[in-house]
Amino acid sequence: MIHKKLLKLETELNGCFMEREEIVRGLLVTAVAKGNLLILGAPGAAKTAIAEALSKQLSGKFFSRLLTKVSAPEELFGPLSLKALENDQYKRVTVGKLPEADLAVIDEVFKCNSAVLNTLLPIMNERVYFDDSSTPKPIPLQVLVGLSNELPDGGVNGELAALWDRFDLKYTVAYVKDERNFATMLKLSTNKPSTTISLQELQSAQQQAEQVNISDDTINALVRLWKELKSQGFLISDRRFRNSLRFLKAHAWFEGRVQVAEDDISILSNMLWTEPDQIKLTKKIVMGFANPLTVKANEIFDGAFELSAKLKETPDGSERTAMAAEANHKFKAAQKMLDGLLKQAKSEGKATAKIIERLAQLKEMNENVVNTYLLGI
Ligand SMILES: Nc1ncnc2c1ncn2[C@@H]1O[C@H](COP(=O)(O)OP(=O)(O)OP(=O)(O)O)[C@@H](O)[C@H]1O
Ligand SMILES: [Mg+2]
Repeated sequence: MIHKKLLKLETELNGCFMEREEIVRGLLVTAVAKGNLLILGAPGAAKTAIAEALSKQLSGKFFSRLLTKVSAPEELFGPLSLKALENDQYKRVTVGKLPEADLAVIDEVFKCNSAVLNTLLPIMNERVYFDDSSTPKPIPLQVLVGLSNELPDGGVNGELAALWDRFDLKYTVAYVKDERNFATMLKLSTNKPSTTISLQELQSAQQQAEQVNISDDTINALVRLWKELKSQGFLISDRRFRNSLRFLKAHAWFEGRVQVAEDDISILSNMLWTEPDQIKLTKKIVMGFANPLTVKANEIFDGAFELSAKLKETPDGSERTAMAAEANHKFKAAQKMLDGLLKQAKSEGKATAKIIERLAQLKEMNENVVNTYLLGI
């Protein structure tokens, strides 16, 4: 029941936000894995809108705050209790603040000074709050979303490295790319989904995901992935690898599996990079582990795409006609290879959606080449 509801919410969110499928899935997986997610990107790319849209559909106490350079601890944790001070105790009135929230969105999360931000560390990692600076108090926080236009001052390995590392999933957003999606975005009447999820339902999803099994094969794949990323010079904290298990389980649960499968490893492409310039390579390596067939399909498609781009740049003439004939020949061969990959993926029970999409794109590209450069239609 809760599984279906969360999938429905996912579809609704994807209908409200264009080209945000990965982030939507990431947010829902983070809620089920009880984690922390960061969205980085240019202004006006729906970072706040998407984080708040999800938070409002999950019933529970919601805390949201935009940080600035001058934000003080009370903005996040509440004012000092005067009553407690009278008794020589240092306590905060946390009502309506982060320590009592089930869901939290912290906007411009790296803007604030590091002294305040460092108080977030135990909240994010251990889900505890140090009320009087010595006794940790468990907090109900289910999901924390951080948003930012920019990287932390001093870089991701600087003063705020520990905070950066506590964001389990990290996404960068760009503006809408596709023309049709852009038109749809302009016509959207609402950014508000209708399905709501109660706190009990979310907790039941978390418990079900916790039961998902991780086989020795998956552990071995993670060890190989760890080695591969290390050999590329990536320094990834052990915490992130430990936490990755929760995210793999949550992802598998979303896919309706009782055991983590190869495909679930794809979620780690947003978990295992540290520097933004590692994003592309991390994705490539992780996807190679998650679904080697999709990676092959992408490579075949990219080769064909390059050829089609070259044709576009070539002036009209016999040279272009010869190139088009060769491209047509190569595209047909590429189609055959993709057909083969699709068959293999089906027989091995692997993900086929991306291969099918690439096949359709390739067919369209080939038709274009034949019509434009060979038939002159
Ligand atoms: N991909 C998208 N799909 C649908 N709506 C979008 C999309 N991108 C932007 N919007 C619209 O733009 C509005 C502005 O987005 P929002 O304020 O969330 O941006 P932001 O990324 O948080 O920017 P900032 O960094 O300035 O805070 C959203 O409320 C939404 O209506
Ligand atoms: Mg914003």
